[in-house]
Amino acid sequence: MDATATAARPKPTASATLPANDPKIVAKDVNVYYAEKHALKDVSLDIPERAVMAFIGPSGCGKSTFLRCINRMNDTIASCRVVGSIKIDDQDIYDPSLDVVQLRARVGMVFQKPNPFPKSIYENIAYGPRIHGLARSKAELDEIVEQALRKASLWNEVKDRLQDTGTGLSGGQQQRLCIARAIAVSPEVILMDEPCSALDPIATAKIEELIDELRQNFTIVIVTHSMQQAARVSQRTAFFHLGVIVETGPTERIFTSPNDKRTQDYITGRFG
Ligand SMILES: Nc1ncnc2c1ncn2[C@@H]1O[C@H](COP(=O)(O)OP(=O)(O)O)[C@@H](O)[C@H]1O
Ligand SMILES: [Mg+2]
Repeated sequence: MDATATAARPKPTASATLPANDPKIVAKDVNVYYAEKHALKDVSLDIPERAVMAFIGPSGCGKSTFLRCINRMNDTIASCRVVGSIKIDDQDIYDPSLDVVQLRARVGMVFQKPNPFPKSIYENIAYGPRIHGLARSKAELDEIVEQALRKASLWNEVKDRLQDTGTGLSGGQQQRLCIARAIAVSPEVILMDEPCSALDPIATAKIEELIDELRQNFTIVIVTHSMQQAARVSQRTAFFHLGVIVETGPTERIFTSPNDKRTQDYITGRFG
């Protein structure tokens, strides 16, 4: 088991060695509770701008919980309490005067299972820009829809059937539709929670390629249970274990010379 896992250890991309960009998101001493359960403990982390940061770690260690802190999705869970500070561009996103709807337009999210609305491909994309008043005319809305689909590498596949239902697309296309939907409101940050875990290897490869393009324009945080995927798409990696961040650093270093024995054990497949 050990030897195989070590042999299969992913090779980081060249960009995994580059120095980090300035932080876009700064989390300090974040603690999260679900009723009595202390799910995240004193998590502090800088997330660089216009780069991909991967969260890895065994199931149940708090990766999704922390991701949901970044766009306040945990607000929707009644038992959940978040303490500590998270700033995006120096703005405290837990400031009571902050508009959560606006925040979620700035910080988009893509889930594990593709979840298009049961509406047309066009409507899936147009919905967000419309409610946020981003288009002044039908022509402008059409342009936003086209650009979002182009950025999500889906335009050529759907341009002749924009009125077809989004749920009729393949799984991989549905996930790119969800990415296009997130992009359409011009977010700054895109959170992705295991976005490929319901997809086949070819659809997964397309999404990974897309993520690599999107980092030119967006700050991306991706939770993945695949270390190979973390190595392929991210420049920085944070390793979570039992509600704490054990270590964080350039993806290349995390996978080649981790500082902590728990990280070493995880990447060599001893647990998780
Ligand atoms: N909605 C919830 N209510 C209660 N406990 C939760 C909820 N979501 C997550 N947890 C608990 O918080 C811990 C972290 O979960 P999660 O963030 O989903 O981990 P991961 O994404 O790393 O698998 C787990 O112990 C999980 O059972
Ligand atoms: Mg999770």
